[in-house]
Amino acid sequence: MTMDPAITALLGDLEARWADEQAEQASLSRADAYAKVDDYLLPVGPETGRFMNDLIRALRPSVVVEIGSSYGYSTLWLAEAARAVGAEIVSFEIHAGKIAAAKSMLASVDLDSTVRFVEGDALASLDTFDGPIGFALIDLWKDLYIPCFDRIADRLTQGAIVIADNMTFPPENAANAAAYRARIRADARFESVLLPIGAGIEVTRRLP
Ligand SMILES: C[S@@+](CC[C@H](N)C(=O)[O-])C[C@H]1O[C@@H](n2cnc3c(N)ncnc32)[C@H](O)[C@@H]1O
Repeated sequence: MTMDPAITALLGDLEARWADEQAEQASLSRADAYAKVDDYLLPVGPETGRFMNDLIRALRPSVVVEIGSSYGYSTLWLAEAARAVGAEIVSFEIHAGKIAAAKSMLASVDLDSTVRFVEGDALASLDTFDGPIGFALIDLWKDLYIPCFDRIADRLTQGAIVIADNMTFPPENAANAAAYRARIRADARFESVLLPIGAGIEVTRRLP
């Protein structure tokens, strides 16, 4: 289905901002770039966004969970598909300013009512979150992937898909990514594959 041109244009604007941010990051020392990390989008990028959008359209989940909203780039891809299939998105983010910006951005294309943001530490929020979950994106700080997965694992519906970003890029995430993938693969309730899309995504399916 053709995407609303206003959403396509907004995605293009965010991708242009991402390109500018990547250029700035490359010009800064590692410490200076890290000091500005909360200013940056840190998005999943268009390939992963498109892939998740297609998956949601195919799977037609009732509830989509996003862990790590940032400024809402991935939320926009998820929300566009969620609205098409009548799903609700629950998006967890610790940074209040990012949530405010994401809400405003989504409202500009009438997608704000599709998303419920939960502000605060996702680990604490997920402890009190009731399932079931039909689709999830894990994309917060990389040492938190396993505790987040552990909190949602029992709430995933049969056939649910979990996407985990940054499995192959940036390289400093390698140890956390390997630990996450080992955790998933040791659990007989799931099957999982690493796909070379965007920054490398682990696609995990809850078996029936
Ligand atoms: C890589 S960014 C998310 C990018 C977003 N998914 C996108 O593609 O546009 C990671 C986000 O996780 C958030 N975060 C980090 N630790 C968190 C925590 N404990 N609870 C909730 N959010 C957290 C950060 O504030 C940051 O915005």
